[in-house]
Amino acid sequence: MATTNSSDSSTPAELAAPYGSGPAASAAASAGESAGNSAGASAGDSAGVSAGTAGASRKPAARIRTHHLHQAKVNGEHFAMLTAYDQYTAEIFDQAGIEVLLVGDSASNNVFGNETSLPVTVDELLPLCRAVARSARRALVVADLPFGSYEVSAQQAVATGVRFLKEGLAHAVKIEGGKFYAETVRAMVQAGIPVMAHIGFTPQSEHALGGYRVQGRGDDAQRLIEDAVALADAGAFSVLMEMVPAATAAAVDAAVDVPTVGIGAGSATTGQVLVWQDMAGLRGGKMAKFVKQYADLRTSLSDAAKAYGDDVRSGHFPGPEHSF
Ligand code: KIV
Repeated sequence: MATTNSSDSSTPAELAAPYGSGPAASAAASAGESAGNSAGASAGDSAGVSAGTAGASRKPAARIRTHHLHQAKVNGEHFAMLTAYDQYTAEIFDQAGIEVLLVGDSASNNVFGNETSLPVTVDELLPLCRAVARSARRALVVADLPFGSYEVSAQQAVATGVRFLKEGLAHAVKIEGGKFYAETVRAMVQAGIPVMAHIGFTPQSEHALGGYRVQGRGDDAQRLIEDAVALADAGAFSVLMEMVPAATAAAVDAAVDVPTVGIGAGSATTGQVLVWQDMAGLRGGKMAKFVKQYADLRTSLSDAAKAYGDDVRSGHFPGPEHSF
């Protein structure tokens, strides 16, 4: 998905930030200039950027905005989203051209060692979010509002959303739930918080849903369509669907103008998301049907740790070249 606005007549090109964009942007701009970038690099310049060009010696990449995701849907393009919970994965995925990074509440069971996403707290997620947002120059950073931090009232949701944008430096947030949350989404959007809505299987409701179950089969498809329409009407910039039959997801996608994102929801959505440890084969155990593994980091890391341990025990590390 290119982020150039040249084919997007509805969205004028983004201007340079009028009040400055912080030291990182200035440093990046001068790096671009000293590398002979005659295009007049400035952090807010969004012209001519395509995936994977972020880097200190290149013109700074334009930030992916929610309108770029919308334009992808209009253009019939797709975008990729991965979870990220720390500096290095954020940097690597960002430089690999992943358009959206999700600081998921799946950190609960992929970082903090919990069995489900329910126990993780706002205070635990905020530092992870900050690390990701500081490390991603191009990707849109979306933060999950964890269980218990937005359900009580629209005011609670706005207050938590503000914390994620202010303290976590996120660009948008995601909440789980159907049309019941339309007024909550409306209040958040009015407060200036872009919201991605998450419907279908919603892990925070695992106990209410009776475990990991595909949602929206048969007649239940209509419920998901109504959820998506209500949430999009309330101002959600995107609707994410988890574990939904491909045909239902396609019907939901057709019913809303906003871009949809799928995880176990077939191929009709504009975006796809995976938990990065699943995608890269870091997590052990049985994978969900919807996961495709693109690497075997668990084996690579285990082999590296074993080799290091063997070297230390046998006296092969450190060698003279590692000594002062
Ligand atoms: O927290 C998360 O990782 C998620 C994805 C499963 C979409 O919400």
